[in-house]
This record gives sequence, structure tokens and C-alpha cells, in this order.
Amino acid sequence: MMGLNTGTTDKPKGQLMQRRNVAQWATGALLSLSASVALAAGASVPLESPAIDTGNIKSLQRGAQVFVNHCMGCHTADYHRYSRMAADLDLTEEETLENFIFTTDKSGEQTKVGSLMESAMTEDYGRQAFGVVPPNLALTARSRGTDWIYTYMKSFYIDEERGGVGVNNKVYPGAAMPHVLWEYQGWQKPIYETETKDGVETEVFKGFELISEGTMTPEEYDDMITDLTNFMAYLADPIKQERLRIGFWVMLFLLGMAVLTWFLKQEYWKDIKK
Ligand code: HEC
Repeated sequence: MMGLNTGTTDKPKGQLMQRRNVAQWATGALLSLSASVALAAGASVPLESPAIDTGNIKSLQRGAQVFVNHCMGCHTADYHRYSRMAADLDLTEEETLENFIFTTDKSGEQTKVGSLMESAMTEDYGRQAFGVVPPNLALTARSRGTDWIYTYMKSFYIDEERGGVGVNNKVYPGAAMPHVLWEYQGWQKPIYETETKDGVETEVFKGFELISEGTMTPEEYDDMITDLTNFMAYLADPIKQERLRIGFWVMLFLLGMAVLTWFLKQEYWKDIKK
């Protein structure tokens, strides 16, 4: 009993310690959370949010077109099959073979519709050419998020300080990827303004200026990147539309059952309540 009593006198201190630990833990968690948010947001640009709708088949088809034409030369998406894409995007086998498959398999023949969406580039070549292997893009919409991808594809700019490629990216500074869609977007340069805060002058990034036009207007380019991002969102979660569709009927069923059960309950309790 004595032991227990001393235990109780110690208790407030113990509680205090506990509270402090919780507070420390919470601050730690908050800090790491904000750190990861800052990391996700990249260096200095706020991320833009495109209007993503993976139920929009036409947009997905256009996005897929850009993806197979301009991205799969370097990037693979081999968690996904062309046949699955064709089924989800309302494409026939012929359309898929003709417009969406530009790679060949090991025997030199055109890749089959049932094959995985593999890039033609080998990892060794990628490492040699870019210093890093271009990552698999099948799940990037989940790891980076669609806002990140959208803003990334709009944030390539001319950077003379970078030898070799001469291109940099505001969202992913120092990225080894060239601006593969430059023909459409044209070339842009960042605009900075000097802001003085507490007597310290800093250069603040204010957006981009188009210095040579591409074949598309900025609006058309934005639309294309929205479609592309939409397609990558689909790639990262191909079952989403199906899930929504089934989920709707499940909820409707449950609602119907709830009503039925309520009437059943009324029926059972009718005599008891009297
Ligand atoms: C010429 C080769 C090449 C082409 C074509 C290409 N990329 Fe890349 N991409 C790369 C390389 C290399 C990296 C790795 C960059 C790094 O980590 O520094 C990369 C990285 C990326 C990343 C960042 C992924 C991550 O999680 O770090 C995204 C997103 C991306 N590419 C999207 C695209 C899209 C969309 C297209 C098609 C419009 C495309 N890429 C076409 C070479 C390419």
C-alpha cells in the first residue's frame, strides 16, 4: 500500500511528463508534416490545380495520345496493359494498334495489344543519357499528385547557367528531363521582382514570360497538359470510375434496405408497444 501511495504523489509529475511528451510528439508530427508539404510543393512555385475528371473519356484519349507519343520514348508505365487502356478508354484493338502503340517487342514486331506499356528505352541507356533512369510514370499521379505533374509540365524554362541542356524546371529544380513539349509551348523565362522585407532584398519569382511562341496558344497548351495529367491520374487509379459506379448502387441498395428494415421494425414492435 505504501508503495502505491508514493506512486500517487508522483503522479502529477508523471502526468506533466506525459503531457510534455505528447506536446513534443505533436510538434514533431506537425513539423514533419509541414516539411513534407513544403517538399511536395517543390522549390518556390505554388502548384496549380487542373480540372481532373477521369470519367471524361475524350480527355483521357487525348491525354493517352500525348503520353504514348511524347513520354513513352523515355518513360515506361509497365504496371498497365494497352488492352486495359483500350477497354477503359473505349478504343478498339485496331485503333489502339494504329494510334497508341509505337514500340516493338524483342522480336522486332509491333508490341501486342495485350502487352505491358513498356518504354522502348533500356535502363542502361537512360542512365547514360540522363544520369538517371527516367522513372516509371504509372503511379506518379499518386506519389507526386496531379497538381505537381500539371505545374511541372508548365514550369520548364531556359536556364543558361545550366550547361548542356540549358533547361531547368521551377517545380523540380535541376531535373534531368528536357522540355520535351517545347514545340507546343515555346520557350519561357522566369520573371523575378526584388522585394524588400526588414531591410533584406530578395528576388521573388513572379511567373513566366513567353519569349518564343510554340505551335499552341498558352490556353491550348494548358488544355493539353490537363488531358495529359488526367490520363496519368487514370493510370495511377484505373479502377476509380468502376469503384464510383459500383459504390453508387451499393449505397442505393443500403438505403433501400434501411427503409425496409425500418418498416419491419415497426411491424415487430406494433403489438409490444401497445
Ligand atoms: C528524353 C527523355 C524523356 C522524355 C521524352 C520524357 N521524360 Fe520525363 N523524365 C525524364 C528524366 C531523365 C526524368 C528524371 C528527372 C530527374 O529525376 O532528375 C524524368 C522525370 C519525370 C517526372 C518526375 C517523376 C518523379 O516522380 O520524379 C515526371 C512527372 C515526368 N518525367 C513526366 C513526363 C511526361 C508527362 C512526359 C511526356 C510529355 C515525359 N516525362 C517525357 C526524361 C524524359
